[in-house]
Amino acid sequence: ATWLTLTLQDSASPVMEQLIFFHDHALMIMLMIITAVFYTMISIIQNKQTSRFILEGQMIETLWTIAPAIILVFIAIPSLRLLYLMDEIHNPVMTLKTVGHQWYWSYEYSDFTKLEFDSYMVQQEDQPINTFRLLDTDNRVVLPMNSPIRMIVTAADVLHSWTVPGLGVKTDATPGRLNQVSFSVNRPGLLYGQCSEICGANHSFMPIVIESVSTNQFINWVSKMSESSDDW
Ligand code: CUA
Repeated sequence: ATWLTLTLQDSASPVMEQLIFFHDHALMIMLMIITAVFYTMISIIQNKQTSRFILEGQMIETLWTIAPAIILVFIAIPSLRLLYLMDEIHNPVMTLKTVGHQWYWSYEYSDFTKLEFDSYMVQQEDQPINTFRLLDTDNRVVLPMNSPIRMIVTAADVLHSWTVPGLGVKTDATPGRLNQVSFSVNRPGLLYGQCSEICGANHSFMPIVIESVSTNQFINWVSKMSESSDDW
């Protein structure tokens, strides 16, 4: 997001793309309803609305009872389609586990040995130039693009929420419970997210940064990270 980005951010995953389509679809239906309501309101103001004979209107009352129900079906069906699409697991190639703490995220790449780290927000005095204030982390989550990824989310102390708008992912991190989502990133680059559950004094200061890279770069990063952890 940049200044004056008042709409949703560009999608970085197929699910987010579908979510944006659904948002636009719902907005068009809203626009039609708002137009009809405003037209009716203005016409009521501009007319005298007196009749000596009208006492009831069975036909119009039946219609304006049934019409909203039909409109709701047009929203509910694509909504349910998306809901089940987001729940689908497409043979994940790797699993990433994240644990919410007060106030930072920690990550575990359980498919590889000894690959785990904490991810803290970059402090203002250490902020490098051309990075986002309050949004960058000291250790970024590196992920291979175009690969189905299983995400496991939990918390160690209180409720948190692992949320990355570009991916269309928002999963509660609950102590004593493992939540699962799956996604794939369909372009390279940096994706930013933040905790989305009011979790205490520093809730605003536990951001998420995903670095989406090619599979080769990801494998290089994994081997470099596991090498350095051998020294411990
Ligand atoms: Cu963690 Cu809000």
